[in-house]
Amino acid sequence: MSDLKWWQKGVFYQIYPRSFADGNGDGIGDFIGMTAKLDYLADLGIDAVWLSPHFPSPQYDVGYDISDYTAVAAEYGTLDDFRHFLDGAHQRGIRVILDLVMNHSSHLHQWFSESRSSRDNPKRDWYIWRDGRNGGPPNNWLSPFGGSAWELDPATGQYYYHYFLKEQPDLNWRNPEVKNAMWQAVRFWLDMGVDGYRLDAIGTIFEQPDMPDHRSKLTEEEMRRLFKRGFPDRTDKKLVELWRQIYEYQVEQPGVHELMQELRCVIDEYPDRVLVGENDNVSYHGDGDNELHMVFNFPLMRTDRMTPAWIRANQQDRLASLPPRAWPCNTLNNHDSTRVYTRYRDGRHDDAIARAALALMLTLRGTPFLYNGEEIGMTDYRLTDINLFRDPPAVWFYNAVVADGMPPAQALVLAADLSRDRCRTPMQWSSEVNAGFSPKGVQTWLPVNPNHAQGINAADQQNDPDSLLSFYKRLLHLRKQTPALLDGSYALLHETNEDYLAFLRQSQGSRQTCLVILNFSDRDHSLSFDLSARDIRCLFSTYTPEGTTLSPDTLKIAPFEIFIGELIS
Ligand code: GLC
Repeated sequence: MSDLKWWQKGVFYQIYPRSFADGNGDGIGDFIGMTAKLDYLADLGIDAVWLSPHFPSPQYDVGYDISDYTAVAAEYGTLDDFRHFLDGAHQRGIRVILDLVMNHSSHLHQWFSESRSSRDNPKRDWYIWRDGRNGGPPNNWLSPFGGSAWELDPATGQYYYHYFLKEQPDLNWRNPEVKNAMWQAVRFWLDMGVDGYRLDAIGTIFEQPDMPDHRSKLTEEEMRRLFKRGFPDRTDKKLVELWRQIYEYQVEQPGVHELMQELRCVIDEYPDRVLVGENDNVSYHGDGDNELHMVFNFPLMRTDRMTPAWIRANQQDRLASLPPRAWPCNTLNNHDSTRVYTRYRDGRHDDAIARAALALMLTLRGTPFLYNGEEIGMTDYRLTDINLFRDPPAVWFYNAVVADGMPPAQALVLAADLSRDRCRTPMQWSSEVNAGFSPKGVQTWLPVNPNHAQGINAADQQNDPDSLLSFYKRLLHLRKQTPALLDGSYALLHETNEDYLAFLRQSQGSRQTCLVILNFSDRDHSLSFDLSARDIRCLFSTYTPEGTTLSPDTLKIAPFEIFIGELIS
């Protein structure tokens, strides 16, 4: 096998701690629950977990507002519970990476309490404070989470900057003390044996130092339209451009790459750790080996229909733009986006499409990131009562449009479209009340999706060989055993076909070459490939029996078939 690193070979699985497993029956996920599910994860066949924030937090942004970077939220357990989880994962060969939120802390972090206490407090400059202008904020900058990006602190009469919520003040990364404090926190977890970090919101770490007004002409009405169908909806190019201009001075500013290089040096003090960035810009790979190990290929998932043409165009752009030695990283959903099952379904072949989506993740070149619940086909759950919403930007949006005169029922529909609560509902472990996430009678922190009673749960699927869960396990298992899917190059075949995607993965090290065909249509095809191979041995198919030998000249592909075969010369 090749000399790939663990994070290049492995499949990552994102756990959203609040919604994964409730071990103490209080309606909220926790480490006791997560630890109890480690055997499930090992059996599923994933290799690493990315844990969304588990730190103490007042939960204004569901954990992405951290009030202590070196502790565990009491509702999730203790530091010992965390250690127990980490050790249990490692014993099963599962690595664990944490979420590193550098851009901002919680407004209830001790650092911010000190910073806001007086203008001459030694930590004043740990955050970004400015005088107001003409009785208002220092400039016209906005927060994508709603309203001005500035908040007046009456005690000291100055405004502080917050790219996200006002409960998430931005740290001032131009102050070396901030850096030192954060690197200490980074080392705290690495010393404990954590395997790396997923970096939250790195694009917003620095601002333009002169802080000029933005010049975008995007109206509030257009802004709402932009957010109506997603986070944001990128299909209207004109609106997207106007939206980009709003944040022009607030994102991707000079200094961030040097900072990433510095963080990389910290990480490299420890053997075999990894950094993956929440940003789609390949520039975060640096020279390919001096910034982040991986950067999410978000452009791939930004479509409502996963078509061969879309995938080919994405791969062509993406693979060509990576610097030498950089390693690709693919994902189709996470805690901020529509669930994969909901996003790409057509209402008639939903299950087949979900299978094709997984096959795509596991056969493209690069490391796949899966999101908890996708393996059982969890769908988005639209809330119908605003009082149950937990996602702050959605609540802000609802209040803003109702205040503008929109009927609440209409506002609710739009807010539900936008709310990230839809993909954060509790994991569906069984068909019992509360989906086996929490005991009967307990109110879970977000409602459980009622479709857990219709087979969308782990227990019902566990022993059903035809279930989506069983399909995930089979394919994850196959990937591990198939070197060409891990380190093989990617070469397209039949480049213009609109129904299916066909490509070769060719491994130099193992000399294995695989043909992958993913039929995204309900039509069958008779295919002929001009390959140097005599035969193709089926390794995995949703139609052809495994082990069957086929000829590359006369290959029949069934509707929605997923076919992975090894070339035999
Ligand atoms: C990232 C997180 C998102 C959070 C935001 C602010 O985008 O993925 O959930 O709201 O950062 O921390």
